[in-house]
Amino acid sequence: MTRRIVVTNAKGGVGKTTTVLTLAAGLEVAGRQRARPWRILVIDADRQAHATLILTGRNDFGRDGSLAGLIESDLYDGSELERRVVPSTWSPNIHVLPADRALAKTDEHLILLPRNEYRLSEPVAAVQHRYDWILIDTSPTWTGLSVCALMAADEVLIPLDLRYLGLQGLVRMVDDLLELRRAYRHEHLFILGVLVTKFDGRLKGMEESLRSLRDSSMSSLLFKTIVPENVDIDYAQRRHLDIFSYNPRAAAAIAYAQALVEVVERGRMTRDVREATT
Ligand SMILES: Nc1ncnc2c1ncn2[C@@H]1O[C@H](COP(=O)(O)OP(=O)(O)OP(=O)(O)O)[C@@H](O)[C@H]1O
Ligand SMILES: [Mg+2]
Repeated sequence: MTRRIVVTNAKGGVGKTTTVLTLAAGLEVAGRQRARPWRILVIDADRQAHATLILTGRNDFGRDGSLAGLIESDLYDGSELERRVVPSTWSPNIHVLPADRALAKTDEHLILLPRNEYRLSEPVAAVQHRYDWILIDTSPTWTGLSVCALMAADEVLIPLDLRYLGLQGLVRMVDDLLELRRAYRHEHLFILGVLVTKFDGRLKGMEESLRSLRDSSMSSLLFKTIVPENVDIDYAQRRHLDIFSYNPRAAAAIAYAQALVEVVERGRMTRDVREATT
């Protein structure tokens, strides 16, 4: 069964894109051990197109070659998505549905389009049998396009930078997600978990924020793995590389490899819950 994970957080710079890219790279490596390697589709739903640039070396796909054109198209059968998917430079097993800055306009007009919330989920449903993992990167502001992204996924992963958002902020964001799930009748959407990223224990208040999170009602959502602040992430991205290829011994590479195991394990749990309750 294809796992469809959207990575989101209404705050900017918290590690959403890094998490998508690193999971894609890690899953690709893990998937090579299998009789049939895992195939991964990264959908870039952020107009900044950072994931697109790092994965393909380009960010000039334009309206027609990117998610923007797909969202504006009235054909939901998957052909419009397939026509826009490009190979990544990282691996033949990682494909990309690129973003483009044209997404800003698309997002503005989205409200006027009929059946707007299904404009990504339906094409994704039509092609998902070709992939084992579909990872969706989102922008830091929640807009109509974020709703499209959430509708196209079954699981939400929230990267959390404790500098910007503490327990209260997280509780509010989870509430908003659950409200969205109700409003759009997307009952199958599960919160896969909260991954603390860019953690720096030397910063005042960070340890304390983490402790209060671990003592709260949110603790069951919290990944055991904590991703540390690590400059190698930045160095790798500047070279358009994933952290495992750049420096597999980097603290963040080790942490993300552990997080990957949790993603796989937690998915099994959510699937069991889903099967038991539906
Ligand atoms: N664990 C980490 N250690 C150090 N730097 C990191 C780490 N994770 C991400 N970064 C850096 O922080 C910056 C923001 O990360 P990233 O782009 O992943 O966040 P984002 O949530 O996608 O941002 P945006 O909301 O703008 O899309 C980038 O320069 C990235 O290289
Ligand atoms: Mg980003």
